[in-house]
Amino acid sequence: MQALICRNFGGLADLVLEETAAPELGGGMLRIAVKACGVNFPDLLMIQGKYQVRPPLPFSPGAEVAGEVIEIGPGVDGFGIGQRVLALPGYGGMAEQVCAKARSVIPIPDGMPFDVAAAFLLTYGTAQHALKQRAKLCAGENLVVLGAAGGVGLAAVELGRLLGARVIAAASTAEKLDLALRHGATEGINYAVDPLKDRILELTGKGADVVYDPVGGDLFEPALRALAWRGRMLVIGFASGSIPQVPANLPLLKGTSIVGVFWGRFTQEEPEAHRENIRELMEFWANGDIRPHVSRHFPLSAGGEAIATLARREALGKIVVTI
Ligand SMILES: NC(=O)c1ccc[n+]([C@@H]2O[C@H](COP(=O)([O-])OP(=O)(O)OC[C@H]3O[C@@H](n4cnc5c(N)ncnc54)[C@H](OP(=O)(O)O)[C@@H]3O)[C@@H](O)[C@H]2O)c1
Repeated sequence: MQALICRNFGGLADLVLEETAAPELGGGMLRIAVKACGVNFPDLLMIQGKYQVRPPLPFSPGAEVAGEVIEIGPGVDGFGIGQRVLALPGYGGMAEQVCAKARSVIPIPDGMPFDVAAAFLLTYGTAQHALKQRAKLCAGENLVVLGAAGGVGLAAVELGRLLGARVIAAASTAEKLDLALRHGATEGINYAVDPLKDRILELTGKGADVVYDPVGGDLFEPALRALAWRGRMLVIGFASGSIPQVPANLPLLKGTSIVGVFWGRFTQEEPEAHRENIRELMEFWANGDIRPHVSRHFPLSAGGEAIATLARREALGKIVVTI
């Protein structure tokens, strides 16, 4: 089969499309003919060797796929050959075939295209877990979403609006803010030109009830300082490349909480809550309440360029590699 291969941890330029052996199908697994692979920031970190998971070399990037079941491993019930599914193998998705644990494979609802299915679960799953289980976001609260036009950011904008929050999008360009406004934000802050803390306080008066932060770096502290009494700061990720250090007196002064979010671990530790989240997300999609935004498609041979687009901060919503 054809696969995009990473032979050494380092740069995207070293990724090559190669003919390689198909992955082995173990017990409890399904073999999937990949039709689409969603691109996520962790793909970049994994290739750079900076992610919490370091796959054995060589490996193919691609954490999230959609496709058709072509082989069923021993001990698997409830799936059929040809069934349309999405899966989160973690890596290996930028290839013609991938094997995934059946318990993490989910049937794709009728009418959901492969590219949307491959761009769905990781971002909406993270945002849903963050806002619902971790922030306990309530209707009428102010939610500020940083990196609001990125993958996990735009999902949080849509889900925050669905939960009845007033969503303030924050991003680095007017085009990104415009996208977030079209997906449910009511106001935008361009943090490339405006001071983040001052603008949050101007827009909310009392400060933000919840800040959702997938960016980190220099944005974290001003956002933390702009929280309201009992506000919650959601630590989603560090797309800026820098992990912030904050003075511990800041959460003390306003009774605020800094709340960690690790969706992948949540799916393992709390499988029933995870299943209920998926059920809700599929219902939101079927009702048209959430609208995954796939802005660009790349062929498998250009998978490295797809990931580089994220690294250059150029992605709007989701990017998908199609096979
Ligand atoms: N905690 C979890 O369970 C979980 C799950 C999934 C992903 N994540 C993390 O969430 C973060 C975002 O992932 P994603 O897939 O949504 O990525 P993405 O689509 O690329 O979005 C990231 C956003 O970060 C902003 N950004 C600021 N500085 C950047 C830089 N130097 N390079 C790239 N982007 C930069 C960009 O928005 P502006 O240009 O508007 O600033 C961009 O839209 C990553 O750190 C990822 O590891 C965490």
